[in-house]
Parts: sequence; structure tokens; C-alpha cells
Amino acid sequence: MLVDNHGRTINYLRLAVTDRCNLRCFYCMPENGIKYVDRKDLLSFEEMYRIINVLSNEGISKIRITGGEPFVRKGIMEFLEKVSKINKIEEINITTNGTFTEDKIAHLEDLGIKSINLSLDSLDKQRFFDITRRDVFDDVMATYAKLVSSSIQVKINMVVMDGRNIEDIQPMLELTKKDDVSVRFIEEMPFNGTSGQGNKTLWPMKKIVSTISEKYQIEKLVDPPFSTSSNYRIAGYKGSFGIIAAYTRTFCGSCNRIRLTPQGTLKTCLYDNGVISVRDVLRSGATDLEVVNHFKDTLNKRVKDGFEAEKNRDLNSPISESMATIGG
Ligand code: 5AD
Ligand code: SF4
Repeated sequence: MLVDNHGRTINYLRLAVTDRCNLRCFYCMPENGIKYVDRKDLLSFEEMYRIINVLSNEGISKIRITGGEPFVRKGIMEFLEKVSKINKIEEINITTNGTFTEDKIAHLEDLGIKSINLSLDSLDKQRFFDITRRDVFDDVMATYAKLVSSSIQVKINMVVMDGRNIEDIQPMLELTKKDDVSVRFIEEMPFNGTSGQGNKTLWPMKKIVSTISEKYQIEKLVDPPFSTSSNYRIAGYKGSFGIIAAYTRTFCGSCNRIRLTPQGTLKTCLYDNGVISVRDVLRSGATDLEVVNHFKDTLNKRVKDGFEAEKNRDLNSPISESMATIGG
């Protein structure tokens, strides 16, 4: 088992398989993109497979595949096939922007992928373009339509941004009327690939909830254990919605997750600077036991929460990363 120095059991790995992305969502990357990691410095799929396999024997049972955009990396489907065969991995979820996803849904169903989070920040074609800087709205909506009629659970990630997509909150909620989908409103975080914009969010969780309850009668749902979202339903609607306090960080106390960046850096908190290079450990010829011990040692020194992590990193460098290099 992997347990940290605060008594939290870790059973969930978020793995970013690439830092590349075909979109340029302005809350994630500047217009001209971010500096991508050299290919040789990215973890190979063999290395990722080894890490998952080793960690599955230490209690990791749930995986999320993220990026960048996971489906831009060649070999991703073969990799997912292999990972889906690891016995102790009970749940595989994927976060995608939905541009190259539609034709893979049947295959993903066959592999038993449990849920897909679709990044969709607007239901209006022009606003979608203004946010992502790419004209792919129709492709993403085609993916959405196919996903909701598949066996895969669907969640929509919408980052709530003042002056950008506030008018989308209501249409997003209306999607949950007929579709069994969970829309998740996410507080904007400072990970946008620049060291600009920082220390506040104009749309904290409380404001999102109060704005919604002005228009709708909402019911609080019981949140699943370790959930990062606070979940609700509109009376009579089929789906649900949730708010992720990614910026106000109300959920750190029960955090059960670790992250591996595309270059194989372990992050024990989204807000830390990266604590060890698992890639370097693997490439130095470490045995499986040594690999596990590196994870255990690191988790023994884990920060308490995202505020402590942010404070520690301030001493070295301000936040200048993109979610694409961290793992969304
Ligand atoms: N703030 C909040 N969420 C972000 N994401 C990426 N960048 C940010 C940010 N700055 C999330 C989006 C996207 C997923 C890949 O990562 O929800 O759907
Ligand atoms: Fe790409 Fe996702 Fe970042 Fe948008 S948020 S640029 S889709 S990685």
C-alpha cells in the first residue's frame, strides 16, 4: 500500500501521456503554444506500462490518462489495450478534448474504459473558438453525441471564466436535462503556461453555486468518496452537475492521488514543483523494488495541501506551467 505521512492512502494515478495538444485553450497555453519537452525526455509507453504495473501491486487501482491531448500520441490505443489487461487496475478513465476521439469510442468501450471527461468550455461555436483558438467545435460535439449513447460514463469539464463563458453555465445545465451526463464547473487555476495571472479566481465555487441556485432548484447529491467535485442535480433532470474547487482547494484533506507528468516527474500535489524524476530512476536501471521505494520515500515527505505546496514552490519559482505539462 502507498500511504503518505498524513495517513492518506494513495490508490489513484493520473498519468499525462503527452504534453502535445492540437488546441490552444487560453487558460492552458499561450497562443503560440508552450515549449514542448524533447521526445527523448518523454516517458515511453514501455516505461509508463512498467510504472503502472509496479504500482498496481502497491494498491493503485484507478488510473486517469490525461495530457496534453492523449489521442495525439501515436500508439495510445495499443498502450490502453495493454493497461486494460492489468488485473489490479480496476478503473481507467480518460480526459480528452474530443477532437480525435469519435472514431475510437467503440474500441474504448471494448476496452472497458469507465469514463471520459470531455473538455468543453462552451456550447456556442464562436465562444468555443475564442477559448480554444481552433475551429473544431463540430468535431467535439460529434464526439459528445457518440459518447452519450455509448456505455462509457460522460463528464464535461468546463472551466468557468469571467467574460468568456459565463453565459454557457445555463445551456450546460440544460444538457443534463435529457442526457445522463455530469457537467463539472471548474475554478480556473493559474496553470496557463505563463507566469502572468495568479492569485485569485473571479468565479470561486460559492459564486458558481449561488449563481446557479438563483435560476434553478438544486438538490445536493452525496459525493462519492475522494471526490474533488461537490455534486448536485436539478430537480427532475437526468444528469447531474458538480463544482471542482481546483483553485480554492477544499478537498486536499482526503487526497488519494498522485500525478506523473509527460516527462515522468512525480507530483504528489498539483501545486508542487515536481518532487522526483521517476524517469531518471527507471533509466538508471532501478529494480521494481527500488522504484516502489522511491515512491514510498517521496510520499513520506508529502505536503499537507495545495497551499503548502504553493508556498514551498514560491521560494523557487512562481507558477509558470501549463496543465498540458502537468497533466490536466
Ligand atoms: N484551470 C482550470 N482547469 C484547467 N484545465 C487546464 N488548464 C486549466 C486551468 N488553468 C483543465 C480543463 C481541461 C483539462 C484538460 O484540464 O478542465 O478540461
Ligand atoms: Fe489542449 Fe486541454 Fe490544454 Fe485545451 S486544456 S490546450 S485541450 S491540453
